[in-house]
Amino acid sequence: MNERELFLRHVGQTSRKPLLLHIDRAENIYLYDKEGRRFIDLCSGVSVSNIGHRHPAVTKAVNNQVERYMHLMVYGEFVESPQVQYARLLVENLPSGLNTVYFVNSGSEAIEGAMKLAKRYTGRYEIVSFWNAYHGSTHGALSIMGDLDFTRAFRPLLPHIRRLDFGVEEQLGQITRRTAAVVVEPIQAEAGVLVPGKEYMQALRKRCDQVGCLLIFDEVQTGFGRTGTLWAFEHFGVVPDILVIAKAAGGGMPLGAFISDKKIMDTLTYRPALGHITTFGGHPVSCAAGKAALEVILNEKLIDSVQDKGRKFIDLLAGHPKIKDIHGIGLLISVQLESEHYLSRFMDKLVDNGLVTDVFLFARDSFRIGPPLIITDEQIEEIVNIIRRTLDEVD
Ligand SMILES: Cc1ncc(COP(=O)(O)O)c(C=O)c1O
Repeated sequence: MNERELFLRHVGQTSRKPLLLHIDRAENIYLYDKEGRRFIDLCSGVSVSNIGHRHPAVTKAVNNQVERYMHLMVYGEFVESPQVQYARLLVENLPSGLNTVYFVNSGSEAIEGAMKLAKRYTGRYEIVSFWNAYHGSTHGALSIMGDLDFTRAFRPLLPHIRRLDFGVEEQLGQITRRTAAVVVEPIQAEAGVLVPGKEYMQALRKRCDQVGCLLIFDEVQTGFGRTGTLWAFEHFGVVPDILVIAKAAGGGMPLGAFISDKKIMDTLTYRPALGHITTFGGHPVSCAAGKAALEVILNEKLIDSVQDKGRKFIDLLAGHPKIKDIHGIGLLISVQLESEHYLSRFMDKLVDNGLVTDVFLFARDSFRIGPPLIITDEQIEEIVNIIRRTLDEVD
């Protein structure tokens, strides 16, 4: 039995149609399979590899850390330099109210921690979220997901969840003094990259302040430069009470975090103590990798060119007769084709032509363009040619 067959037999499956690429190694924006074929990673492993695969600064940081120690103790007991140094770097690049970092393993766990923290801090229990939102797959995160088809089978989920339509200011009155927190992606990714208006986000902030609930921004996909600013909230002039990060946060290693003011975070320390417990949260190797990756983004000023690169994709693809719509922000772009059925055939051919990307959970006729931020103009032109050729090949 070859490894592909073993994968299907012994590794838990959730996808009805896995890509089944058997990758041998990855570097920069490229993936190389066992048969020697080269693929371009057009989705950064879904918003993870923002500085490309195996950046030398990251592999060096990982190797150095592995030489010293890996896991030592459950989270929050020992002073671990990689955690401390990374927390400091994050905080230095955030507004002053976001000064305390709780490291966890993943985006879902960070959402769980953020919701628990908001309930604990406000003494309330209602959570407001949005239709077409995705916040992860654990029970709490699933409870606030904005799609009943995905969640129905796993009921009962958390009670007291209220969902609003994203971007509809008239509904903000449904956030009340019963609400502990509003959880929102400042730019909805899985909905097909929905960018709300600045006025809407400011009205949302104002409503949360009026009723005394916490505003939680899920920047798991939009953080670390993806949208052309380090954090997506910078586009709106609005600062959340709790920021949730993951994906690119670990530079290719598993890591998530929720970040707040110390006075909010400290409520996890008392009555009960150990308000959130995580064994591997803030793993030293992940923190070393994440810090190195963020330093690359900052030192190499990668964010400066993100808007131009995104615009180049849109300009070069817009107008193709088989593209119904193309829009996005920075290097998070959604391309809508004529139907879900057409998209499925297009995606198969795209892989054959050497491009790997992903569709969106809630925009089922669209695919994403979200390459590593290090992508060059020449690489963008090469990708656009492949996409155009594939569109021409698939009827
Ligand atoms: C916006 C958003 N939040 C949370 C998550 C969950 O992150 P993880 O898969 O690391 O649990 C995801 C994952 O895709 C996401 O896109």
